[in-house]
Amino acid sequence: MRYDTPSLERWNSRAYDSSFGYVSTQGAPLVDLLDPRPGERVLDLGCGTGVLTAQIAFRGADVLGIDGSAAMIEKALAQYPGMNFIIGDGHDFTVVDPYDAVFSNAALHWMSRDPVAVIASVREALKPGGRFVAEMGGAGNCAELTTAMLTAWREYGLREPDLPWYFPTPAEYARRLEQEGFVVRLLEYFDRPTPLDECPGGAADWVRMFASSVLEGLPPEIVEPLLGRVNELAAPALRRESGWMADYVRLRFAAVRR
Ligand SMILES: C[S@@+](CC[C@H](N)C(=O)[O-])C[C@H]1O[C@@H](n2cnc3c(N)ncnc32)[C@H](O)[C@@H]1O
Repeated sequence: MRYDTPSLERWNSRAYDSSFGYVSTQGAPLVDLLDPRPGERVLDLGCGTGVLTAQIAFRGADVLGIDGSAAMIEKALAQYPGMNFIIGDGHDFTVVDPYDAVFSNAALHWMSRDPVAVIASVREALKPGGRFVAEMGGAGNCAELTTAMLTAWREYGLREPDLPWYFPTPAEYARRLEQEGFVVRLLEYFDRPTPLDECPGGAADWVRMFASSVLEGLPPEIVEPLLGRVNELAAPALRRESGWMADYVRLRFAAVRR
């Protein structure tokens, strides 16, 4: 395990539960798909503040939450005393005793440096026959949001930002799972337009929360006008009378280690 992963401090863990709790709320059906049984050993990869980890524990499983962000783990430990959380990177974590299942919600697309290494680490953490149940962003996720960002950056004469995510197609991810020793039992690919109820600042707030790395190194005086332009460009597709809507596309799968 790695204990110091400051580069993963990509967002504010205090704001995470209050403003972006929808991420874990929408993960509840994934816990049903995991169907944790009393006494099973489950690892929650990219557990964030531990909301879903706690739901899995509530069903009687013995759960370990792993996250790359020290702030997330600190908050998880504070919120759920007595539960097990540890800092670790999805690319290269190792466990002593293999688990019955690895669960992951809304986190695998952040582990973009080497997705194959992530799948291989998950495989090594599982017993033969162990389940890998996860949901992540899929190809086309946030396409309107990212197109607005790229256009605004171009208009301001800025170098194209490196987007921090890995959004695979279902075919690509299934192939990688199979190549790394999994049998894919279920794979769903679907649109999930998601109200950004807690983003009064619209797409600009979303960029600040989920893509803050693209703002690093920019001259401070251009950040606000640049994000204002992102809002103007994204609004026709994403702003409704009721508020902003993110154009999420998800991949949800259940695979079994051979
Ligand atoms: C959108 S949050 C989801 C958190 C939680 N699973 C939930 O459903 O609320 C994504 C999480 O992935 C974590 N993460 C990102 N890259 C990671 C990595 N390489 N290794 C471990 N965790 C990582 C982040 O720190 C963050 O807590």
